[in-house]
Amino acid sequence: MGGLGRTVSTGEATIGGPFTLIDQDGKTKADADFRGRFMLIYFGYSFCPDVCPTTLQEMSDAFAKLGSKKSRVVPVFITVDPARDTPHVLKDYLKSFGPEFVGLTGDAKQIAEAARAYRVFIRKHPLPGGNYSMDHSGVIYLMGPDGRFVTYYEDEIGPDRMADDLSKRL
Ligand code: NI
Repeated sequence: MGGLGRTVSTGEATIGGPFTLIDQDGKTKADADFRGRFMLIYFGYSFCPDVCPTTLQEMSDAFAKLGSKKSRVVPVFITVDPARDTPHVLKDYLKSFGPEFVGLTGDAKQIAEAARAYRVFIRKHPLPGGNYSMDHSGVIYLMGPDGRFVTYYEDEIGPDRMADDLSKRL
């Protein structure tokens, strides 16, 4: 079973919180706009070479298995690299994962605040030639229709187990 459905036993109430960001259509989106639906949230960035695309595909595959319960949850991708992940870049990037995905970006301060609220670790990692990658945690959060933390999934859980667990909770 691994970590399936395990809840974080300490500080549960302090994961998540208010955010105001910009979606892939350039519209302001606050956490309150998602009330009434679950949010499946992953922080990452579109230039991520391997982990982010794998995890987003996993979320997309799990989401596809939810059938009629799909409408109860919104998959949300929050960038940790707002300098490069503009709304336009996010829009293009998320096309591969499905039209239901909401991509969120913002200014550096807004992203730092959201990451802090979700206890997401971010570190810029310079690469030769002036480029950079972003080290970041790879946890997928499930937030309830009231905006409160429900559970989290490790990124290696796989779509079948994620869908099974989500199905029970939605
Ligand atoms: Ni990544």
